[in-house]
Amino acid sequence: MHVFYRKGELVSFLEGERDKNHSIGLVPTMGALHKGHLSLVEKALSENDRVVVSIFVNPTQFDRKDDLEKYPRDLQGDLDLLEGISDRLAVFSPAVTEIYGGDVRSLSYDFNGLDLVMEGAFRRGHFDGVGTVVELLLRTVGPDRAYFGEKDFQQLQIIRKMVALKALPYTIVGCPIEREANGLAMSSRNERLDPATKREAGIIYACLRSAQANFGTESAASMRERIKNTIEAKPGFALEYFEIADEADLGPMAEIRPGRTYRAFIAVYVQGVRLIDNLRLN
Ligand code: PAJ
Repeated sequence: MHVFYRKGELVSFLEGERDKNHSIGLVPTMGALHKGHLSLVEKALSENDRVVVSIFVNPTQFDRKDDLEKYPRDLQGDLDLLEGISDRLAVFSPAVTEIYGGDVRSLSYDFNGLDLVMEGAFRRGHFDGVGTVVELLLRTVGPDRAYFGEKDFQQLQIIRKMVALKALPYTIVGCPIEREANGLAMSSRNERLDPATKREAGIIYACLRSAQANFGTESAASMRERIKNTIEAKPGFALEYFEIADEADLGPMAEIRPGRTYRAFIAVYVQGVRLIDNLRLN
């Protein structure tokens, strides 16, 4: 498997692949790979001749220094995992200076309000950081298709918006959420929970399912109250937000409008670890 640390090396490799008429898929990640990431890699391999997996913990999308420092890193483990999957994979694992030079700062984007709610409201500047690194990765790799998980549904919609704003000629493919047996959405952060708490964190998905079951009969405010009580009855669990939003503009649902699809979004602190999840309601 090819592993590239420099943009220039990756770009010349990809030029060679283009000359062979090979299609290229891109799967951007921050590493500490788990089955959620691998589902994106598998989908990309099924639709492209070559797949580039980027592994880069992007400093500009973290609003808290301790969160960036605690973010799990295991490049060798990630490479071993990917090596076993396919010889059509290449990895791009740049250093921070390779991406940002000496100026570790985000560009600023007009995401038309998509970035001001939920994750954006609670993590200032987060989506400018995501937009900056994803735009750079897309322009460097020039993929036919790039793959993002619905686990981060707001991020997926914002990346679609960025690609439209900048008229970038890449297809953005959304992929379903991979879950543990208890429903907990797979995440690198889950590894920071002890096994008993990880089992209890299945309550987050159970709450989303209850919102789905009651959609159309229970108000969003009542759901929020009920879910807050359920979550916070568990020691060490705290609800940060629960929202029902229109999938297209991510605005909070005031009433159910015909022809629109809605999703429930949740963020919970569990033993100081911030977990997010979402589920389509109709
Ligand atoms: P990261 O959290 O590593 O996630 C990389 C990709 O994997 C994202 O598209 C995310 O939505 C997807 N993913 C994570 N867990 C998943 C799950 N359980 N099921 C399905 N897909 C899942 O998201 C980022 O990195 C960064 O913000 C990035 C886009 C790489 C920019 O830095």
